[in-house]
Amino acid sequence: MKEQRGFDFTEYRTSMLERRVQKRVYSTNCRNFDNYLEYLDHHPGELDNLIDVFTINVSRFYRNSLSFEYISKIIIPELFLAKAKENDNNLRIWSAGCSFGEEPYSMAIIFNEFLRKEETSIKLNIFATDIDKKALKRASEGCYGFNSIEKIKFGIFKKFFTKEGEQFKIDPEIKKMVQFSFYDLLDEKHIVPPESIFGSFDIILCRNVLIYFNLDYQKIIFNKLYRSLNKNGYLILGEAEVPVEGFKHKFRRENKCCKIYRKSS
Ligand SMILES: C[S@@+](CC[C@H](N)C(=O)[O-])C[C@H]1O[C@@H](n2cnc3c(N)ncnc32)[C@H](O)[C@@H]1O
Repeated sequence: MKEQRGFDFTEYRTSMLERRVQKRVYSTNCRNFDNYLEYLDHHPGELDNLIDVFTINVSRFYRNSLSFEYISKIIIPELFLAKAKENDNNLRIWSAGCSFGEEPYSMAIIFNEFLRKEETSIKLNIFATDIDKKALKRASEGCYGFNSIEKIKFGIFKKFFTKEGEQFKIDPEIKKMVQFSFYDLLDEKHIVPPESIFGSFDIILCRNVLIYFNLDYQKIIFNKLYRSLNKNGYLILGEAEVPVEGFKHKFRRENKCCKIYRKSS
């Protein structure tokens, strides 16, 4: 995978990798890992299936809806107030490991709703990155199956989606608000996605991505997240994720019911 497609999974948790390869061993009717390796040699197309089971793209609009409620009711109004006080006209968001785009688009919808009610000159940038180019392509198309939108409130669905056959298409206004690009969270050359130029994010969502990595590599990622967050910036993690050793004191938990942290100064 590394030689042919540039995917380096060496730092991922072994147990996770084993489970995923095992899936393909069963699906291809191979007897064991060795036999599967031979199968791969003779069936080059199988590599795509293997990559697909490694880069699990499961996501949904408003996944862990409590976090999104908290962002919209507490964090966004507070951030706008703080920005106004500091005469800062830029608000920057990063969805790191955005999969098919449900997460950054959920943020765009929340901001869009807020901005309809508030008059402001603040310029909003939402950067969304992933290591999976196929997922990024689908994200920029903004078309979803029912599973992705199932948890959306009816009012939001009516306002921001149109049904096209079996698919649900996101509103072009929302689509315009998100900038998708390729970025590997283990990239040693760039601390932030090059498209964002300088980082300085007010909110970073890195949810259900860290669970892939062993603790050493989680540290590399936490270091990036810490360095690219603004002072007092917010870090939103997945429900099963917590800051690793060395970063526990660098992020203080904001709220008990969801994994929302704030950069300690
Ligand atoms: C389960 S999805 C999470 C999507 C979304 N954040 C959410 O919580 O619904 C995990 C995503 O992380 C991406 N990913 C895995 N390793 C990565 C890496 N090294 N750099 C960037 N993204 C990565 C995968 O391609 C996948 O799209």
